[in-house]
Amino acid sequence: MSERIVVVGAALVDDGRLLAARRSAPVELAGRWELPGGKVEPGETADAALVRELREELGVDAEACGRVPGEWPLKSPYVLQVWTARLRPGSAAPEPLEDHDELRWLGPGEIWDVDWLDQDVPAVRQTLAHLGAAEGLT
Ligand code: CDP
Repeated sequence: MSERIVVVGAALVDDGRLLAARRSAPVELAGRWELPGGKVEPGETADAALVRELREELGVDAEACGRVPGEWPLKSPYVLQVWTARLRPGSAAPEPLEDHDELRWLGPGEIWDVDWLDQDVPAVRQTLAHLGAAEGLT
């Protein structure tokens, strides 16, 4: 159990739309869509990791808002947790700088238009249940 490593995924919401990112690597995940994010580093908090990953991967200045309840298993030792996030005022628009080759803002009714990674499907479903109505996503 001690070697469990948390991967944080960002439910980045802006103007009633959720950001989805298409992975470009590794080959077995390329072409599938995910909530952008990555591994929490030793000594780092999950929300700090989220902000760092969004800066590195998308070039944005974001803030974590709160955690979506739940946790989803990835390939051991990783587990996925999701945090909602938003762009801070003055942030650049997201761009696929590393790990991804396309981004899409998904509005209400479009959330399931992309081919999410299998493991992200329950996380996205829970995210919608958690904040969908409040953010205008459902
Ligand atoms: O950027 P970093 O190397 O920290 O992490 P990553 O390679 O983006 O993600 C670590 C692992 O979590 C990979 O195996 C991803 O496929 C997985 N992951 C996922 O399944 N769903 C996400 N929303 C984000 C990452």
